[in-house]
Amino acid sequence: MSREQHKRQPIGVFDSGIGGLTVANAIIKHLPNEELIYFGDTAHLPYGDKSADAIRYYSLKIVKFLLEQNCKLIVVACNSASSAAYHVLLEFFAGQALFVNVVDPLVETVRQHHFSKVGVIATKATIQSGVYQEKLREAQPDLDLTAMATPLLVPMIEEGYHDDNISEAIISKYLSDPRFENIEALLLACTHYPLIRNHIEDYFNQKIRVFDSTDIVAKVIQHYLIQRDLLNPGRQGPHRFCVSDYTQSFEETTRLFYREKIELEHCPIW
Ligand code: DGL
Repeated sequence: MSREQHKRQPIGVFDSGIGGLTVANAIIKHLPNEELIYFGDTAHLPYGDKSADAIRYYSLKIVKFLLEQNCKLIVVACNSASSAAYHVLLEFFAGQALFVNVVDPLVETVRQHHFSKVGVIATKATIQSGVYQEKLREAQPDLDLTAMATPLLVPMIEEGYHDDNISEAIISKYLSDPRFENIEALLLACTHYPLIRNHIEDYFNQKIRVFDSTDIVAKVIQHYLIQRDLLNPGRQGPHRFCVSDYTQSFEETTRLFYREKIELEHCPIW
């Protein structure tokens, strides 16, 4: 394959469902010439409650599908999959595509700021994997770190409770934990949390830095493609948005996570 053909190959983005559209949206905003193939594993969501083995098994099969679609780079947009499966994907598909996860860009950002007290919120699978704790402490051994699973946030957001008494009560129940007192930064380590980022910033009276994996990850991908001379000079085909299980409700929920209306394509890989 010529370099020109290689550059024109799509970027594959996958997530447990449609929350990863927050990441896809940021990639399209930063890299408008790139063609995207998004895969949401709606047949198996949520990943946040699954075992690491199950998440690895699903991720391997999804990446195989994305490689069959000729992707030059694969973005593991799901924090739970990045935590449980990224290293396995790298090993299994070595040399077949480039891979980007959503954990390392957040860890690198925190490292650059030299904060002394930081919080991480995510799904149970992400927190139980210990990946953020391990990588953040490796980068900064004296970091005061609280990593907390906040499992009610995903269903809350998917059901449209973003800015009302219910969301306020749940957000405050989690964030009022004394271990979060005096944190300087909070990492929103889940695809869904960018939707409540403003409320989290308000909860802390705009006094702390809040990071999510949308723009930060898109910039890392941009850098990665520039470094390897793989930027697409111009998109030729439309973006595709595949799901492993289709329901009307998934189609409607996409509007929460993606700014434009999109049509979901049913790709039953299971
Ligand atoms: N996409 C998942 C993550 O970022 C959240 C939703 C789920 O649990 O599947 O961890």
